[in-house]
Amino acid sequence: MAYNTREKMSKKQNIQSQNLFSDDEFEQPIGNWKVETFSPNGFYDEKERQKLENKYWDITEVTNRFNRQSVSYQLSKKDSLHRWLKYKEGFSAELVRILLNDFGVKEKDVVLDPFMGSGTTALVCCLQGIDSCGYDILPMSKVSINSKTAVFDYDLNELNEAIEEIKNLDLPKGYKKVTPFVSITKDGYPEQTAKELAYYTEYFEQSNHSDIVKNLLKLCFLNTLEPISYSEKKGQYLGWDYRCPKIVAAVKDREEKGRKPFATKLDKGDIPSLKETLLSELTNVVADITDLQKNGNELKGHCNFEEGSVLFKIPQMASNTINAVITSPPYCNRYDYTRTYGMELAYLGKSDNDIRNLRQELLSCTVENKTKIERLRDYYESIGRLEDYNRILNTIQSNLVLQEINGALKARNENGEINNKGVLKMVDGYFTELGFLFAELYRVCKSGAFVAFVNDNVRYAGEVIPVDYLTTDLAEQLGFKAIKVYTLKQQKGNSSQQMAKYGRVALRKSITIWQKP
Ligand SMILES: C[S@@+](CC[C@H](N)C(=O)[O-])C[C@H]1O[C@@H](n2cnc3c(N)ncnc32)[C@H](O)[C@@H]1O
Repeated sequence: MAYNTREKMSKKQNIQSQNLFSDDEFEQPIGNWKVETFSPNGFYDEKERQKLENKYWDITEVTNRFNRQSVSYQLSKKDSLHRWLKYKEGFSAELVRILLNDFGVKEKDVVLDPFMGSGTTALVCCLQGIDSCGYDILPMSKVSINSKTAVFDYDLNELNEAIEEIKNLDLPKGYKKVTPFVSITKDGYPEQTAKELAYYTEYFEQSNHSDIVKNLLKLCFLNTLEPISYSEKKGQYLGWDYRCPKIVAAVKDREEKGRKPFATKLDKGDIPSLKETLLSELTNVVADITDLQKNGNELKGHCNFEEGSVLFKIPQMASNTINAVITSPPYCNRYDYTRTYGMELAYLGKSDNDIRNLRQELLSCTVENKTKIERLRDYYESIGRLEDYNRILNTIQSNLVLQEINGALKARNENGEINNKGVLKMVDGYFTELGFLFAELYRVCKSGAFVAFVNDNVRYAGEVIPVDYLTTDLAEQLGFKAIKVYTLKQQKGNSSQQMAKYGRVALRKSITIWQKP
Protein backbone atom coordinates (compact mmCIF):
# COMPACT_ATOMS: atom_id res chain seq x y z
CA MET A 1 0.00 0.00 0.00
CA ALA A 2 1.33 3.33 -1.07
CA TYR A 3 0.37 5.70 1.73
CA ASN A 4 3.38 6.72 3.80
CA THR A 5 3.17 10.42 3.53
CA ARG A 6 4.00 12.26 6.70
CA GLU A 7 7.52 13.45 5.99
CA LYS A 8 7.99 17.20 6.03
CA MET A 9 9.14 18.82 2.78
CA SER A 10 8.88 22.12 1.04
CA LYS A 11 5.33 22.70 -0.13
CA LYS A 12 5.97 22.22 -3.82
CA GLN A 13 8.28 19.27 -3.32
CA ASN A 14 5.79 17.89 -0.85
CA ILE A 15 2.88 17.99 -3.24
CA GLN A 16 4.83 16.45 -6.08
CA SER A 17 6.52 13.72 -4.14
CA GLN A 18 3.42 12.84 -2.21
CA ASN A 19 1.68 12.13 -5.43
CA LEU A 20 2.01 8.44 -4.83
CA PHE A 21 -0.48 7.26 -7.36
CA SER A 22 -0.01 9.02 -10.67
CA ASP A 23 2.00 11.64 -12.49
CA ASP A 24 -0.14 14.66 -11.94
CA GLU A 25 0.97 18.01 -13.13
CA PHE A 26 0.53 21.07 -11.02
CA GLU A 27 0.37 24.02 -13.35
CA GLN A 28 -1.45 26.31 -11.01
CA PRO A 29 0.13 28.14 -8.07
CA ILE A 30 -0.40 26.03 -5.00
CA GLY A 31 -0.82 28.94 -2.63
CA ASN A 32 -4.30 29.47 -4.00
CA TRP A 33 -5.71 26.54 -2.09
CA LYS A 34 -4.34 27.58 1.26
CA VAL A 35 -6.64 29.87 3.17
CA GLU A 36 -4.95 33.06 4.37
CA THR A 37 -7.85 34.71 6.17
CA PHE A 38 -10.60 32.88 8.02
CA SER A 39 -12.34 35.82 9.64
CA PRO A 40 -12.23 38.82 7.28
CA ASN A 41 -11.36 42.24 8.70
CA GLY A 42 -10.01 40.60 11.85
CA PHE A 43 -13.58 40.29 13.09
CA TYR A 44 -12.98 37.21 15.25
CA ASP A 45 -10.12 35.13 16.51
CA GLU A 46 -8.80 32.79 13.82
CA LYS A 47 -5.65 31.38 15.38
CA GLU A 48 -7.02 27.84 15.77
CA ARG A 49 -8.04 27.74 12.12
CA GLN A 50 -4.63 29.11 11.11
CA LYS A 51 -2.91 26.43 13.19
CA LEU A 52 -5.08 23.77 11.60
CA GLU A 53 -4.34 25.07 8.12
CA ASN A 54 -0.63 24.76 8.78
CA LYS A 55 -1.05 21.37 10.40
CA TYR A 56 -2.65 19.73 7.36
CA TRP A 57 -1.24 21.76 4.52
CA ASP A 58 1.76 19.42 4.33
CA ILE A 59 -0.41 16.39 3.57
CA THR A 60 -2.58 18.30 1.10
CA GLU A 61 -2.28 17.50 -2.57
CA VAL A 62 -3.89 19.71 -5.16
CA THR A 63 -4.75 17.01 -7.61
CA ASN A 64 -5.66 16.18 -11.17
CA ARG A 65 -6.58 12.63 -10.23
CA PHE A 66 -10.03 13.74 -9.19
CA ASN A 67 -12.02 16.59 -10.62
CA ARG A 68 -15.42 18.21 -10.47
CA GLN A 69 -16.85 15.42 -12.63
CA SER A 70 -15.48 12.57 -10.56
CA VAL A 71 -16.81 13.92 -7.27
CA SER A 72 -20.22 14.51 -8.82
CA TYR A 73 -22.81 12.47 -10.68
CA GLN A 74 -21.62 13.76 -14.08
CA LEU A 75 -19.25 10.88 -14.91
CA SER A 76 -21.76 8.27 -13.76
CA LYS A 77 -24.18 9.49 -16.42
CA LYS A 78 -22.07 7.54 -18.88
CA ASP A 79 -21.59 4.56 -16.62
CA SER A 80 -24.13 1.79 -17.13
CA LEU A 81 -25.88 0.64 -13.94
CA HIS A 82 -24.56 3.54 -11.85
CA ARG A 83 -26.70 5.95 -13.86
CA TRP A 84 -29.96 4.21 -13.15
CA LEU A 85 -31.15 6.55 -10.42
CA LYS A 86 -30.77 10.18 -11.42
CA TYR A 87 -29.14 11.36 -8.23
CA LYS A 88 -27.16 14.49 -8.71
CA GLU A 89 -25.70 14.35 -5.22
CA GLY A 90 -23.93 11.11 -6.11
CA PHE A 91 -20.23 10.76 -6.85
CA SER A 92 -18.80 8.83 -9.76
CA ALA A 93 -18.11 5.12 -10.02
CA GLU A 94 -14.66 6.07 -11.30
CA LEU A 95 -13.79 7.78 -8.02
CA VAL A 96 -14.74 4.63 -6.12
CA ARG A 97 -12.70 2.41 -8.47
CA ILE A 98 -9.62 4.59 -8.01
CA LEU A 99 -9.94 4.63 -4.23
CA LEU A 100 -10.56 0.87 -3.98
CA ASN A 101 -7.40 0.34 -5.98
CA ASP A 102 -5.38 2.83 -3.91
CA PHE A 103 -6.59 1.21 -0.71
CA GLY A 104 -5.70 -2.27 -1.94
CA VAL A 105 -9.22 -3.58 -1.27
CA LYS A 106 -9.57 -7.23 -2.34
CA GLU A 107 -12.40 -9.62 -3.19
CA LYS A 108 -14.41 -10.62 -0.12
CA ASP A 109 -13.27 -7.55 1.82
CA VAL A 110 -16.11 -5.40 3.19
CA VAL A 111 -16.50 -1.73 2.30
CA LEU A 112 -18.83 0.54 4.26
CA ASP A 113 -20.63 3.61 2.95
CA PRO A 114 -22.52 5.32 5.79
CA PHE A 115 -24.35 7.60 3.31
CA MET A 116 -25.18 5.32 0.40
CA GLY A 117 -27.42 7.58 -1.70
CA SER A 118 -27.91 5.88 -5.05
CA GLY A 119 -25.45 3.16 -4.01
CA THR A 120 -22.39 4.00 -6.12
CA THR A 121 -19.80 2.71 -3.64
CA ALA A 122 -21.81 -0.45 -2.99
CA LEU A 123 -22.36 -1.32 -6.64
CA VAL A 124 -18.78 -0.70 -7.74
CA CYS A 125 -17.73 -3.00 -4.92
CA CYS A 126 -20.26 -5.71 -5.74
CA LEU A 127 -19.21 -5.77 -9.40
CA GLN A 128 -15.63 -6.36 -8.24
CA GLY A 129 -16.52 -9.16 -5.83
CA ILE A 130 -16.15 -6.91 -2.79
CA ASP A 131 -18.89 -7.00 -0.17
CA SER A 132 -20.46 -3.73 0.85
CA CYS A 133 -22.81 -2.35 3.45
CA GLY A 134 -24.29 0.94 4.52
CA TYR A 135 -27.24 3.16 5.27
CA ASP A 136 -29.36 5.98 3.98
CA ILE A 137 -32.48 7.64 5.33
CA LEU A 138 -34.12 8.17 1.95
CA PRO A 139 -36.42 5.46 0.58
CA MET A 140 -35.14 6.10 -2.97
CA SER A 141 -31.84 4.53 -1.93
CA LYS A 142 -33.52 1.22 -1.24
CA VAL A 143 -35.29 1.27 -4.60
CA SER A 144 -32.04 2.15 -6.37
CA ILE A 145 -29.82 -0.36 -4.59
CA ASN A 146 -32.33 -3.21 -4.85
CA SER A 147 -32.78 -2.57 -8.58
CA LYS A 148 -29.06 -2.48 -9.25
CA THR A 149 -28.11 -5.48 -7.16
CA ALA A 150 -30.70 -7.52 -9.10
CA VAL A 151 -28.99 -6.69 -12.40
CA PHE A 152 -28.18 -10.32 -13.24
CA ASP A 153 -31.53 -11.64 -12.02
CA TYR A 154 -33.85 -9.88 -14.47
CA ASP A 155 -35.55 -11.91 -17.15
CA LEU A 156 -35.14 -9.89 -20.35
CA ASN A 157 -38.37 -11.35 -21.81
CA GLU A 158 -40.30 -10.11 -18.81
CA LEU A 159 -38.75 -6.66 -19.16
CA ASN A 160 -39.57 -6.51 -22.84
CA GLU A 161 -43.16 -7.47 -22.01
CA ALA A 162 -43.29 -4.56 -19.55
CA ILE A 163 -42.11 -2.23 -22.33
CA GLU A 164 -44.93 -3.47 -24.58
CA GLU A 165 -47.45 -3.05 -21.77
CA ILE A 166 -46.43 0.59 -21.28
CA LYS A 167 -46.84 1.21 -25.00
CA ASN A 168 -50.41 -0.08 -24.82
CA LEU A 169 -51.39 1.46 -21.52
CA ASP A 170 -54.06 4.14 -21.71
CA LEU A 171 -55.92 5.96 -18.98
CA PRO A 172 -59.46 4.54 -18.74
CA LYS A 173 -62.25 7.06 -19.28
CA GLY A 174 -63.54 8.52 -16.04
CA TYR A 175 -60.42 7.54 -14.04
CA LYS A 176 -60.26 10.01 -11.14
CA LYS A 177 -57.36 9.08 -8.84
CA VAL A 178 -54.25 11.23 -8.85
CA THR A 179 -50.75 10.44 -7.65
CA PRO A 180 -50.18 11.22 -3.95
CA PHE A 181 -48.83 14.67 -3.08
CA VAL A 182 -47.67 16.62 -0.04
CA SER A 183 -48.04 20.34 0.55
CA ILE A 184 -44.85 21.35 -1.29
CA THR A 185 -45.69 19.17 -4.29
CA LYS A 186 -49.39 20.08 -4.62
CA ASP A 187 -50.41 20.79 -8.24
CA GLY A 188 -46.99 19.48 -9.23
CA TYR A 189 -48.10 17.75 -12.45
CA PRO A 190 -50.38 18.63 -15.33
CA GLU A 191 -53.80 17.19 -14.41
CA GLN A 192 -53.76 14.38 -16.95
CA THR A 193 -50.22 13.37 -15.93
CA ALA A 194 -51.16 13.21 -12.24
CA LYS A 195 -53.91 10.72 -13.16
CA GLU A 196 -51.72 8.71 -15.52
CA LEU A 197 -49.04 8.45 -12.88
CA ALA A 198 -51.58 7.04 -10.43
CA TYR A 199 -53.03 4.66 -13.01
CA TYR A 200 -49.75 3.32 -14.43
CA THR A 201 -48.39 2.84 -10.92
CA GLU A 202 -51.50 0.98 -9.80
CA TYR A 203 -51.42 -1.10 -12.97
CA PHE A 204 -47.89 -2.37 -12.37
CA GLU A 205 -48.36 -2.82 -8.63
CA GLN A 206 -51.32 -5.09 -9.34
CA SER A 207 -49.62 -6.88 -12.22
CA ASN A 208 -48.16 -10.38 -12.11
CA HIS A 209 -44.65 -9.11 -12.68
CA SER A 210 -41.92 -10.37 -10.38
CA ASP A 211 -41.02 -8.23 -7.37
CA ILE A 212 -37.67 -7.30 -8.88
CA VAL A 213 -39.30 -6.01 -12.06
CA LYS A 214 -41.89 -4.09 -10.03
CA ASN A 215 -39.04 -2.49 -8.09
CA LEU A 216 -37.15 -1.68 -11.29
CA LEU A 217 -40.27 -0.03 -12.66
CA LYS A 218 -40.55 1.99 -9.46
CA LEU A 219 -37.03 3.27 -10.09
CA CYS A 220 -37.99 4.22 -13.66
CA PHE A 221 -41.10 6.01 -12.37
CA LEU A 222 -38.94 7.93 -9.88
CA ASN A 223 -36.73 9.13 -12.73
CA THR A 224 -39.74 10.38 -14.70
CA LEU A 225 -41.13 12.61 -11.94
CA GLU A 226 -39.02 15.69 -12.55
CA PRO A 227 -39.30 15.74 -16.37
CA ILE A 228 -43.05 15.11 -16.46
CA SER A 229 -43.88 17.58 -13.71
CA TYR A 230 -43.85 21.36 -13.37
CA SER A 231 -40.92 21.04 -10.97
CA GLU A 232 -37.23 21.53 -11.49
CA LYS A 233 -34.52 20.76 -8.94
CA LYS A 234 -32.79 24.06 -8.40
CA GLY A 235 -30.19 24.50 -5.66
CA GLN A 236 -31.87 24.46 -2.27
CA TYR A 237 -35.46 24.31 -3.43
CA LEU A 238 -37.73 22.97 -6.11
CA GLY A 239 -38.43 25.50 -8.82
CA TRP A 240 -41.91 25.61 -10.40
CA ASP A 241 -42.84 26.23 -14.01
CA TYR A 242 -44.95 29.31 -14.69
CA ARG A 243 -47.88 27.07 -15.75
CA CYS A 244 -48.08 25.30 -12.38
CA PRO A 245 -51.46 26.28 -10.84
CA LYS A 246 -49.86 27.45 -7.60
CA ILE A 247 -47.56 29.79 -9.55
CA VAL A 248 -50.49 31.02 -11.65
CA ALA A 249 -52.39 31.77 -8.42
CA ALA A 250 -49.40 33.47 -6.79
CA VAL A 251 -48.81 35.67 -9.86
CA LYS A 252 -52.48 36.68 -9.89
CA ASP A 253 -52.40 37.43 -6.19
CA ARG A 254 -49.36 39.68 -6.61
CA GLU A 255 -51.01 41.50 -9.47
CA GLU A 256 -54.15 42.08 -7.43
CA LYS A 257 -52.12 43.42 -4.52
CA GLY A 258 -50.14 45.71 -6.84
CA ARG A 259 -46.86 43.95 -6.02
CA LYS A 260 -43.98 43.54 -8.45
CA PRO A 261 -44.04 40.35 -10.58
CA PHE A 262 -41.61 37.54 -9.66
CA ALA A 263 -38.07 38.35 -10.71
CA THR A 264 -37.63 35.05 -12.55
CA LYS A 265 -39.96 32.85 -14.52
CA LEU A 266 -39.28 29.16 -15.00
CA ASP A 267 -40.33 27.81 -18.37
CA LYS A 268 -39.63 24.12 -18.83
CA GLY A 269 -40.80 24.19 -22.44
CA ASP A 270 -42.66 21.12 -23.68
CA ILE A 271 -43.39 18.83 -20.76
CA PRO A 272 -43.16 15.24 -22.01
CA SER A 273 -45.82 12.62 -21.32
CA LEU A 274 -45.44 9.90 -18.72
CA LYS A 275 -45.66 7.23 -21.41
CA GLU A 276 -42.75 8.50 -23.49
CA THR A 277 -40.59 9.30 -20.45
CA LEU A 278 -41.20 5.98 -18.75
CA LEU A 279 -40.56 4.09 -21.96
CA SER A 280 -37.32 5.90 -22.50
CA GLU A 281 -36.20 5.23 -18.91
CA LEU A 282 -37.04 1.56 -19.04
CA THR A 283 -35.55 1.07 -22.49
CA ASN A 284 -32.24 2.58 -21.35
CA VAL A 285 -32.13 0.44 -18.24
CA VAL A 286 -32.97 -2.70 -20.22
CA ALA A 287 -30.15 -1.88 -22.66
CA ASP A 288 -27.73 -1.71 -19.70
CA ILE A 289 -29.07 -4.97 -18.30
CA THR A 290 -28.70 -6.69 -21.68
CA ASP A 291 -25.08 -5.55 -21.94
CA LEU A 292 -24.19 -6.44 -18.40
CA GLN A 293 -25.84 -9.87 -18.61
CA LYS A 294 -23.77 -10.63 -21.72
CA ASN A 295 -20.61 -10.19 -19.68
CA GLY A 296 -21.58 -11.86 -16.45
CA ASN A 297 -24.21 -13.87 -14.73
CA GLU A 298 -23.97 -13.01 -11.09
CA LEU A 299 -23.06 -10.10 -8.87
CA LYS A 300 -19.87 -11.26 -7.23
CA GLY A 301 -20.12 -9.20 -4.07
CA HIS A 302 -22.93 -9.04 -1.54
CA CYS A 303 -24.58 -5.76 -0.54
CA ASN A 304 -26.25 -5.10 2.77
CA PHE A 305 -28.31 -1.89 2.82
CA GLU A 306 -30.32 -0.66 5.79
CA GLU A 307 -32.76 2.22 5.57
CA GLY A 308 -32.35 4.61 8.49
CA SER A 309 -29.96 7.04 10.08
CA VAL A 310 -26.40 5.83 10.31
CA LEU A 311 -26.07 7.66 13.63
CA PHE A 312 -28.61 5.32 15.21
CA LYS A 313 -27.61 2.16 13.38
CA ILE A 314 -23.84 2.02 13.29
CA PRO A 315 -23.43 1.92 17.09
CA GLN A 316 -24.72 -1.66 16.97
CA MET A 317 -22.46 -2.82 14.17
CA ALA A 318 -19.79 -5.38 15.05
CA SER A 319 -16.31 -3.99 15.80
CA ASN A 320 -13.23 -4.57 13.60
CA THR A 321 -15.09 -5.85 10.54
CA ILE A 322 -14.67 -3.19 7.85
CA ASN A 323 -11.76 -3.02 5.38
CA ALA A 324 -12.46 0.43 3.93
CA VAL A 325 -14.94 3.30 3.97
CA ILE A 326 -15.71 5.34 0.85
CA THR A 327 -18.37 7.96 1.31
CA SER A 328 -19.68 11.44 0.91
CA PRO A 329 -21.91 12.89 3.62
CA PRO A 330 -24.42 15.67 3.05
CA TYR A 331 -22.40 18.89 2.92
CA CYS A 332 -22.68 21.55 5.60
CA ASN A 333 -24.45 23.82 3.14
CA ARG A 334 -28.14 24.05 4.06
CA TYR A 335 -29.08 21.63 1.29
CA ASP A 336 -32.31 19.91 2.19
CA TYR A 337 -32.63 16.50 0.53
CA THR A 338 -36.19 16.14 1.78
CA ARG A 339 -37.26 19.25 -0.14
CA THR A 340 -35.32 18.58 -3.31
CA TYR A 341 -36.73 15.08 -3.36
CA GLY A 342 -40.24 16.10 -2.30
CA MET A 343 -41.78 14.74 -5.52
CA GLU A 344 -40.05 11.38 -5.11
CA LEU A 345 -40.93 11.12 -1.41
CA ALA A 346 -44.59 11.93 -2.10
CA TYR A 347 -44.65 9.39 -4.92
CA LEU A 348 -43.31 6.77 -2.52
CA GLY A 349 -46.20 7.52 -0.17
CA LYS A 350 -44.52 9.77 2.41
CA SER A 351 -46.81 12.28 4.11
CA ASP A 352 -45.95 15.84 5.18
CA ASN A 353 -45.31 14.52 8.63
CA ASP A 354 -43.07 11.69 7.41
CA ILE A 355 -41.04 14.23 5.45
CA ARG A 356 -40.68 16.51 8.47
CA ASN A 357 -39.44 13.53 10.46
CA LEU A 358 -37.03 12.49 7.73
CA ARG A 359 -35.63 16.03 7.69
CA GLN A 360 -34.79 15.66 11.36
CA GLU A 361 -33.03 12.36 10.62
CA LEU A 362 -30.67 14.06 8.15
CA LEU A 363 -27.16 14.62 9.39
CA SER A 364 -27.58 18.28 10.45
CA CYS A 365 -27.23 20.03 7.12
CA THR A 366 -30.28 22.30 7.07
CA VAL A 367 -31.19 25.30 9.19
CA GLU A 368 -34.21 23.39 10.44
CA ASN A 369 -32.29 20.54 12.02
CA LYS A 370 -32.68 20.33 15.77
CA THR A 371 -29.88 19.05 17.95
CA LYS A 372 -29.66 15.26 18.18
CA ILE A 373 -27.57 15.28 21.32
CA GLU A 374 -30.31 14.18 23.72
CA ARG A 375 -31.57 11.50 21.36
CA LEU A 376 -28.05 10.19 20.90
CA ARG A 377 -27.55 10.18 24.65
CA ASP A 378 -30.74 8.20 25.23
CA TYR A 379 -29.82 5.84 22.45
CA TYR A 380 -26.30 5.12 23.69
CA GLU A 381 -27.71 4.63 27.17
CA SER A 382 -30.34 2.20 25.85
CA ILE A 383 -27.63 0.02 24.29
CA GLY A 384 -25.46 0.18 27.41
CA ARG A 385 -22.84 2.50 25.90
CA LEU A 386 -23.35 5.71 27.86
CA GLU A 387 -19.67 5.86 28.73
CA ASP A 388 -18.80 5.86 25.03
CA TYR A 389 -21.32 8.61 24.45
CA ASN A 390 -19.70 10.78 27.12
CA ARG A 391 -16.21 10.08 25.86
CA ILE A 392 -17.11 10.90 22.25
CA LEU A 393 -19.03 14.05 23.14
CA ASN A 394 -16.22 15.32 25.40
CA THR A 395 -13.69 14.72 22.65
CA ILE A 396 -15.74 16.64 20.11
CA GLN A 397 -16.52 19.49 22.46
CA SER A 398 -12.85 19.86 23.37
CA ASN A 399 -11.92 20.57 19.75
CA LEU A 400 -10.54 24.11 19.75
CA VAL A 401 -11.21 24.72 16.07
CA LEU A 402 -14.87 23.83 16.45
CA GLN A 403 -15.05 26.07 19.52
CA GLU A 404 -13.53 28.93 17.53
CA ILE A 405 -15.95 28.45 14.63
CA ASN A 406 -18.95 28.29 16.94
CA GLY A 407 -17.73 31.45 18.70
CA ALA A 408 -17.17 33.27 15.42
CA LEU A 409 -20.63 32.41 14.10
CA LYS A 410 -22.24 33.45 17.38
CA ALA A 411 -20.43 36.80 17.22
CA ARG A 412 -21.42 37.29 13.57
CA ASN A 413 -25.00 36.53 14.50
CA GLU A 414 -24.95 39.01 17.38
CA ASN A 415 -23.61 41.52 14.87
CA GLY A 416 -26.66 40.93 12.65
CA GLU A 417 -24.66 39.28 9.85
CA ILE A 418 -26.33 35.88 9.77
CA ASN A 419 -29.75 35.86 8.17
CA ASN A 420 -30.84 32.60 9.70
CA LYS A 421 -29.87 31.66 13.22
CA GLY A 422 -30.38 28.01 12.32
CA VAL A 423 -26.94 28.13 10.68
CA LEU A 424 -25.32 28.14 14.13
CA LYS A 425 -27.14 25.01 15.24
CA MET A 426 -26.56 23.36 11.90
CA VAL A 427 -22.78 23.88 11.94
CA ASP A 428 -22.35 22.71 15.51
CA GLY A 429 -24.70 19.76 14.94
CA TYR A 430 -22.97 18.83 11.71
CA PHE A 431 -19.53 18.41 13.26
CA THR A 432 -20.86 16.90 16.47
CA GLU A 433 -22.80 14.24 14.58
CA LEU A 434 -19.89 13.56 12.24
CA GLY A 435 -17.71 13.18 15.34
CA PHE A 436 -20.02 10.43 16.60
CA LEU A 437 -19.84 8.79 13.21
CA PHE A 438 -16.02 8.96 13.11
CA ALA A 439 -15.82 7.36 16.55
CA GLU A 440 -18.02 4.51 15.35
CA LEU A 441 -16.12 4.17 12.07
CA TYR A 442 -12.93 3.85 14.06
CA ARG A 443 -14.52 1.08 16.12
CA VAL A 444 -15.94 -0.90 13.18
CA CYS A 445 -12.86 -0.60 10.94
CA LYS A 446 -10.15 -3.21 11.02
CA SER A 447 -6.65 -2.05 11.81
CA GLY A 448 -5.09 -0.73 8.59
CA ALA A 449 -8.46 0.19 7.02
CA PHE A 450 -8.58 3.37 4.95
CA VAL A 451 -11.40 5.89 5.08
CA ALA A 452 -12.25 8.40 2.32
CA PHE A 453 -14.68 11.30 2.76
CA VAL A 454 -15.63 13.62 -0.10
CA ASN A 455 -16.70 17.03 1.17
CA ASP A 456 -16.76 20.77 0.44
CA ASN A 457 -15.58 23.64 2.59
CA VAL A 458 -18.12 26.32 3.39
CA ARG A 459 -18.33 29.91 4.52
CA TYR A 460 -21.00 31.72 6.52
CA ALA A 461 -21.00 35.51 7.04
CA GLY A 462 -17.42 35.56 5.80
CA GLU A 463 -16.22 32.97 8.36
CA VAL A 464 -14.38 30.17 6.59
CA ILE A 465 -15.13 26.67 7.84
CA PRO A 466 -12.38 24.31 6.65
CA VAL A 467 -14.56 21.19 6.65
CA ASP A 468 -11.79 19.00 5.20
CA TYR A 469 -9.24 19.87 7.88
CA LEU A 470 -11.67 20.09 10.78
CA THR A 471 -13.15 16.66 10.04
CA THR A 472 -9.61 15.30 9.70
CA ASP A 473 -8.71 16.83 13.05
CA LEU A 474 -11.77 15.29 14.71
CA ALA A 475 -11.01 11.94 13.08
CA GLU A 476 -7.48 12.08 14.50
CA GLN A 477 -8.77 12.98 17.97
CA LEU A 478 -10.98 9.90 17.72
CA GLY A 479 -8.12 7.56 16.79
CA PHE A 480 -7.53 7.76 13.02
CA LYS A 481 -4.28 8.82 11.42
CA ALA A 482 -4.55 11.56 8.78
CA ILE A 483 -2.98 10.34 5.56
CA LYS A 484 -3.81 12.79 2.85
CA VAL A 485 -6.14 15.56 1.80
CA TYR A 486 -6.70 15.60 -1.93
CA THR A 487 -8.09 18.89 -3.00
CA LEU A 488 -9.51 19.50 -6.44
CA LYS A 489 -8.06 22.10 -8.74
CA GLN A 490 -11.57 23.41 -9.14
CA GLN A 491 -12.72 25.31 -6.10
CA LYS A 492 -16.14 26.12 -4.92
CA GLY A 493 -17.39 29.52 -5.99
CA ASN A 494 -18.10 32.18 -3.36
CA SER A 495 -21.58 33.71 -3.36
CA SER A 496 -21.62 37.19 -4.87
CA GLN A 497 -22.89 38.72 -1.61
CA GLN A 498 -20.12 37.16 0.48
CA MET A 499 -17.52 38.09 -2.11
CA ALA A 500 -18.64 41.72 -2.19
CA LYS A 501 -18.73 42.00 1.58
CA TYR A 502 -15.84 39.79 2.69
CA GLY A 503 -13.63 39.21 -0.39
CA ARG A 504 -12.88 35.96 -2.18
CA VAL A 505 -11.33 32.97 -0.45
CA ALA A 506 -10.39 29.49 -1.55
CA LEU A 507 -13.18 27.07 -0.74
CA ARG A 508 -11.66 23.67 -1.23
CA LYS A 509 -13.46 20.61 -2.50
CA SER A 510 -11.57 17.76 -0.94
CA ILE A 511 -11.26 14.05 -0.44
CA THR A 512 -9.80 13.31 2.96
CA ILE A 513 -8.00 10.01 3.53
CA TRP A 514 -7.48 8.59 7.01
CA GLN A 515 -6.32 5.24 8.29
CA LYS A 516 -7.02 3.24 11.40
CA PRO A 517 -3.54 2.46 12.76
C1 LIG B 1 -23.82 13.16 -0.86
S1 LIG B 1 -25.12 12.00 -0.74
C2 LIG B 1 -24.30 10.46 -1.04
C3 LIG B 1 -24.34 10.08 -2.48
C4 LIG B 1 -23.69 8.75 -2.79
N1 LIG B 1 -22.26 8.79 -2.58
C5 LIG B 1 -24.00 8.37 -4.24
O1 LIG B 1 -23.05 8.20 -5.03
O2 LIG B 1 -25.15 8.27 -4.60
C6 LIG B 1 -25.40 11.96 0.98
C7 LIG B 1 -26.48 10.99 1.39
O3 LIG B 1 -26.55 10.97 2.82
C8 LIG B 1 -27.88 10.65 3.17
N2 LIG B 1 -28.06 10.95 4.60
C9 LIG B 1 -28.25 12.15 5.19
N3 LIG B 1 -28.34 12.01 6.52
C10 LIG B 1 -28.18 10.69 6.79
C11 LIG B 1 -28.16 9.93 7.98
N4 LIG B 1 -28.33 10.50 9.18
N5 LIG B 1 -27.96 8.59 7.88
C12 LIG B 1 -27.79 8.00 6.67
N6 LIG B 1 -27.82 8.68 5.51
C13 LIG B 1 -28.00 10.00 5.56
C14 LIG B 1 -28.69 11.49 2.21
O4 LIG B 1 -30.00 11.00 2.11
C15 LIG B 1 -27.89 11.35 0.93
O5 LIG B 1 -28.40 10.30 0.14
